[in-house]
Amino acid sequence: MTRYQAIQQTLRIKPFRWLITGVAGFIGSNLLEALLKLNQDVVGLDNFSTGYQHNLDQVKAAVDPAVWANFTFHQGDIRSLKDCQKACENIDFVLHHAALGSVPRSIEDPIQTNESNISGFINMLVASRDANIKRFVYAASSSTYGDHPDLPKIESIIGRPLSPYAVTKYVNELYADVFARCYGIQSIGLRYFNIFGPRQDPNGAYAAVIPQWIAALIQNKMLRINGDGETSRDFCFVENVIQANLLSALTEEPPAVNQVYNIALNERTSLNQLYSMMRKLLINKFPHLQNHQPTYVDFRQGDVRHSQADISKAINLLGYAPTHRIGKGLEEAMNWYIENLS
Ligand SMILES: NC(=O)c1ccc[n+]([C@@H]2O[C@H](COP(=O)([O-])OP(=O)(O)OC[C@H]3O[C@@H](n4cnc5c(N)ncnc54)[C@H](O)[C@@H]3O)[C@@H](O)[C@H]2O)c1
Repeated sequence: MTRYQAIQQTLRIKPFRWLITGVAGFIGSNLLEALLKLNQDVVGLDNFSTGYQHNLDQVKAAVDPAVWANFTFHQGDIRSLKDCQKACENIDFVLHHAALGSVPRSIEDPIQTNESNISGFINMLVASRDANIKRFVYAASSSTYGDHPDLPKIESIIGRPLSPYAVTKYVNELYADVFARCYGIQSIGLRYFNIFGPRQDPNGAYAAVIPQWIAALIQNKMLRINGDGETSRDFCFVENVIQANLLSALTEEPPAVNQVYNIALNERTSLNQLYSMMRKLLINKFPHLQNHQPTYVDFRQGDVRHSQADISKAINLLGYAPTHRIGKGLEEAMNWYIENLS
């Protein structure tokens, strides 16, 4: 039995009370669905800035009504300490995911990104400290590696940030570390590398590449590849992220706590390869793709050229064992987008 399976077994018979911030977003709503299906009590906090009521409605439809009753939603903002304090009441574990994502958004509006991602983060740390929660697990980011050229990325070696977003995510790690030293709060930061899966928003100027491309392919629209298409990423399916969160919350190994971990697969896929894989998965259902071609445009400001994670720290200290490689993840994600977009 893997450590993740053991934890799932424990949770099924032992309910804890969890707070998910950013619960109406992509990763937050997937965490919510997983925890409710394990009979957990969940409180959610979100201001719907980039998340949606329809994400919560989908989770409601996916679980028994009795299980849905274990969920309490607070519409609120992490920029308000009061909202954070209210949401943290009687909480065992915090999974902090509320933030303004996207490198380009942060370049256009660094102040908004700073307010949610740094002021909001410290509000959540203070509220969690005062509520005596058991552990604070938070969404860090691979953007923290910045301009450091080494591959694969190792947690202890980072470069200079390439965007305001990357600064905010690095500051989160510094604050979590200092809160451990000054107040004894237990935290774990998960440096996510390009996560994808059901409910990731395909719309808007700041959409991530996979949902944006699936929508373009299904709807036979123009699909833009930034640069020459040889830019590569370590794409990671959301199911692996759920696993990492639960392992982090429940680990009882002291050396595993107050650490940051890469969460990815240690695999690198270029944008050109990604395009081919996605087209191949969809072509039988959408014959218009026989003639589909991508359009190559300029490189995007603030983007790193290659990204790949060394995941041995998460494997060794947390027992992380990803269940979904990119192909399996893409298939599952496609099924959801076909149902919801076409
Ligand atoms: N998706 C990825 O590839 C990826 C990679 C690295 C890190 N992350 C981090 O993971 C977390 C979740 O990302 P996601 O992809 O699910 O994004 P998302 O935009 O779908 O979810 C973020 C949620 O936070 C909410 N939110 C934003 N600001 C808020 C505020 N001030 N108060 C309350 N709620 C607020 C939004 O409404 C949204 O529901 C974020 O912290 C993001 O930076 C994601």
